[in-house]
Amino acid sequence: MPLIGRRRLLVALAGVAAIAMGIRAATWRPAPQLITAACQGDDPMANKIIVAYATRTGSTAEAADRIARRLCAAGMSAQARPVAEVTSLDGYSAAILGSAVRYSAWLPEMTVFMSTHRDALSAMPVAFFTMHMLALGDDPAAVAERAKYTAKARDLVTPTDEAFFEGMIDPARLSFLDRLAVRLVKSPVGDRRDWDRIAGWVDSLAPRLASAPT
Ligand SMILES: Cc1cc2nc3c(=O)[nH]c(=O)nc-3n(C[C@H](O)[C@H](O)[C@H](O)COP(=O)(O)O)c2cc1C
Repeated sequence: MPLIGRRRLLVALAGVAAIAMGIRAATWRPAPQLITAACQGDDPMANKIIVAYATRTGSTAEAADRIARRLCAAGMSAQARPVAEVTSLDGYSAAILGSAVRYSAWLPEMTVFMSTHRDALSAMPVAFFTMHMLALGDDPAAVAERAKYTAKARDLVTPTDEAFFEGMIDPARLSFLDRLAVRLVKSPVGDRRDWDRIAGWVDSLAPRLASAPT
């Protein structure tokens, strides 16, 4: 190869490497703290509920864990697990599925999970919860925007209950590009989770989940 051709090739390779490193730096974020937890209520014969979740920065994992523990306090047996860990729904009598929202939609791993386990999910009570930061009001525009978040999930499975909860944005857990997106849409930041509201929702579901046929 002529020298000039080799030099051009080296410059092009260095350019591609620099771009790849730039993309990596802009999209890197710390791995979220995932939670896998199981608890048992005081009724050994009680229904077993799976609380499967999808998260990017961990706040939905913590919500799923609290939800599972609240179900156990109501006598049931429950497991909180990241959705990627759930390979079968055998042995569960009901499911609570929760996801963070990114760009107006549930995280893709949750809808992939739902497609894979659609038959099993369609045969049991399923409740949805969504952790998000925008479209928080009760005005028609906010309600319509929130409905979009779970539209794909509702196409797959009809939930018996659905709730939307304010989530959390911790800039330290976001990539540079995510921080930019959050700033662009002027999203609130901080931990806005209302644990009493979440517990109240679980209490309202518990009787229906407890009586689901196994
Ligand atoms: C890049 C980015 C995009 C987001 N997009 C939306 C959105 O479209 N609508 C919304 O209500 N919240 C949005 N959020 C807020 C998250 O859904 C919220 O912070 C959630 O609690 C994150 O959950 P996690 O910690 O489990 O990942 C977004 C957050 C980030 C960082």
